[in-house]
Amino acid sequence: MSDAEFVSRHLHPGDDLSSFSSDQPSLDEWLRQSAHHAESIRSGRTWVWTQDGSVVAYFTLAGHVIERHDLPQRIGRGSPDRIPAVLIARLALHRDLHGQGLGGALLADASRRIIVAAEIVAARFVVVDVTGDEAASFYTHYGYRPIPGTRRLVRKVSDLAHDFRSA
Ligand SMILES: CC(C)(COP(=O)(O)OP(=O)(O)OC[C@H]1O[C@@H](n2cnc3c(N)ncnc32)[C@H](O)[C@@H]1OP(=O)(O)O)[C@@H](O)C(=O)NCCC(=O)NCCS
Repeated sequence: MSDAEFVSRHLHPGDDLSSFSSDQPSLDEWLRQSAHHAESIRSGRTWVWTQDGSVVAYFTLAGHVIERHDLPQRIGRGSPDRIPAVLIARLALHRDLHGQGLGGALLADASRRIIVAAEIVAARFVVVDVTGDEAASFYTHYGYRPIPGTRRLVRKVSDLAHDFRSA
């Protein structure tokens, strides 16, 4: 299965979210119960993948600020005290699609949108807060660096942009 089979677009008010199941109930419930509200108050922008009209994946992006003193010195070096960033607030794929590299394609889709946004509003890092070790392995696999002692991982937007230029 390839990601070309999916349509990537902004969440629509009429989207049927009832059958979405990622194996992480909190992420499924958030999509059903809170994604539209987050859109309406502009606290999170949600993008979905659809297949035959059904939502099979989503991610939610939001502006964020990192305090430099919360980063290891080697990562925060050269940054202002308060660092503009983009938060991947949620990211999940339907359980039937796991383990085929599609999570990586979904993350690449999020990255592309972040790079476009960062051409207009500056952001130095992408940030993600994970709940479990499996999600941390997933992000590490795609170049994110864990912040020791936290559930947070970060990656420079310039590194994402470099990946796309070299692809
Ligand atoms: C996280 C998620 C998007 C990964 O999707 P996926 O399509 O299964 O991931 P990929 O096939 O692209 O995985 C790429 C790499 O990530 C890592 N990875 C992915 N899922 C993993 C898991 N369950 N355990 C450990 N490592 C994992 C592996 O290193 C894998 O490399 P490999 O192919 O060499 O084994 C998907 O499992 C999911 O939606 N999970 C539920 C929601 C969630 O946990 N979201 C993340 C928190 S925001």
